[in-house]
Amino acid sequence: MLNLRSEKWFARKGKDGFIYRAWMKNQGIPDDEFTGKPVIGICNTWSELTPCNAHFRELAESVKRGVLEAGGLPVEFPVMSLGETLIKPTAMLYRNLMSMTVEESIRANPLDGVVLLVGCDKTTPASVMGACSVNLPMIAVSGGAMLTGKHQGRNLGTSDLWRFDAENKSGKLTAEEFRMIEGAMCRSRGHCAVMGTASTMACMIEALGITLPENAAIPAADSRRKVLAQLSGRRIVDMVKEDVKPSDIMTRELFENAVKINAAIGGSTNFMIHLMAIAGRLGVPLTLRDFDHLAKDIPLLANLEPSGKYFMEDFYYAGGLPAVIKELLPHLHGTVRTVSGQTVVENNQNAQCYNRDVIASLDKPFQQKAGTAVVYGNLCKDGAVIKPSAASPHLMKHRGQAVVFETIEDYHERINDPDLDVTEDHILVLKNVGPKGYPGMPEVGNMQLPAKLLQRGITDMIRISDGRMSGTAFGTTFLHVSPESAAGGVLALVREGDWIEVDVEERRLHLDVSDEELEKRRETWKPLPEPTDRGYVKMFLDYVQQAHKGMDLDFLQGSSGSEVTRDSH
Ligand code: FES
Ligand code: MG
Repeated sequence: MLNLRSEKWFARKGKDGFIYRAWMKNQGIPDDEFTGKPVIGICNTWSELTPCNAHFRELAESVKRGVLEAGGLPVEFPVMSLGETLIKPTAMLYRNLMSMTVEESIRANPLDGVVLLVGCDKTTPASVMGACSVNLPMIAVSGGAMLTGKHQGRNLGTSDLWRFDAENKSGKLTAEEFRMIEGAMCRSRGHCAVMGTASTMACMIEALGITLPENAAIPAADSRRKVLAQLSGRRIVDMVKEDVKPSDIMTRELFENAVKINAAIGGSTNFMIHLMAIAGRLGVPLTLRDFDHLAKDIPLLANLEPSGKYFMEDFYYAGGLPAVIKELLPHLHGTVRTVSGQTVVENNQNAQCYNRDVIASLDKPFQQKAGTAVVYGNLCKDGAVIKPSAASPHLMKHRGQAVVFETIEDYHERINDPDLDVTEDHILVLKNVGPKGYPGMPEVGNMQLPAKLLQRGITDMIRISDGRMSGTAFGTTFLHVSPESAAGGVLALVREGDWIEVDVEERRLHLDVSDEELEKRRETWKPLPEPTDRGYVKMFLDYVQQAHKGMDLDFLQGSSGSEVTRDSH
């Protein structure tokens, strides 16, 4: 006999059972559905304001079909949804709030298991974080990437936006063509078609063992995406019967696998922040240093934009994530179990690669070392990160003078000033774009170069900030400087003309200013005033942790479990 959590609602006698069942019956649910059937919540991040997830109502229908086939009762419910492109000032400000809506919606309701429908960048970590803090059986299904954009015979993905913007500014592209490209780039349902943060997250959850194999790469428009959703609906019912919880699956081993797999695919730097936040919910130890040390010998096996050439669609046709995992098996924990009921080896050992120009073999990688480097120094005592695969080799070791912007507004105001004293050897330093400083840590770390350098054909220079960078962006950018300037980090004390030394090989980021001088500067330093003293943003400012800890609110770490002891009537 199944011992179902939902029976605490639906198997009740008397007034309470009446209330719990009667109102559900208004949806046309027969009486016998309330006995002995796992109730499966479909946690839907659908929203027309999250264009990447706008097709999720349809995807939910496929999940429902699977749940019904396996003898469960599917119930779809909405949670807060975050779209990268529309939400101001940055979707990251609300990731933790969204995770709270997921967590509380799952715990408060008569659910035995959950299917998370996730897509656009933040919707994945927020949903997983929330679900982990309840720890009911859970499986995730991504919405899939868009088809490759096409424009005048050229392939396009979101990463090209940064190039088009630069071409538009330097006069290479007409305003009319710039406008036409909008429709060509986003021509199908799904999330960004490159290995940006959304696809990185889709790979992350497959690597963490909480999706069925192939989840990461099937395009949103491909009917096999619906098949995967249906199979996931079937599988969650069995997971409830087997009582397989996230904490059973997502052990340190799978987190280590995820870090290595992310390096091999050249995933987004945002991955680090989200993975640490998820680990924090489960109590799995994971530090910023782990990312560097676990991945430092992992080669780049995927040739995908923004670091490489191809798109998510090509990635799927070439074999998708299973083909990468199969290559990487010698580096991975292979015997750990995933939600499929099979181990990592069993899930992936029969994967095939159909295009070696897209997915490399372990002995002929696209790049020998692909991991994100974590650098330390007086400028970032708790670390800063750089993605070498998206950076310029000639800038990996450099000494240059700082051109300092106090805020992003200051940067916008002055960056294209022809009188700005800047050359390609300078280092652009941007302050006050960290978790508290903005607030929400926006993706502005890949600051556009000064127009006068772009016009001279310069395409890269060193940039340092406490902000993030879009997973679709590239450049020699040191990001996530921790502690951030708004929290009194040394970054706050950098002045125009200071010398900065960068040495990625040595993992070093150093401000060449004496400790005495820095102490003197600190005496006159004042943080910017907080932007508000009320609402969620106030709570965020009071409790958000620094980037090197995953930026969760400190009191959200850990789990409250699934038990609710009190009734509502
Ligand atoms: Fe949603 Fe890129 S904007 S994934
Ligand atoms: Mg993004």
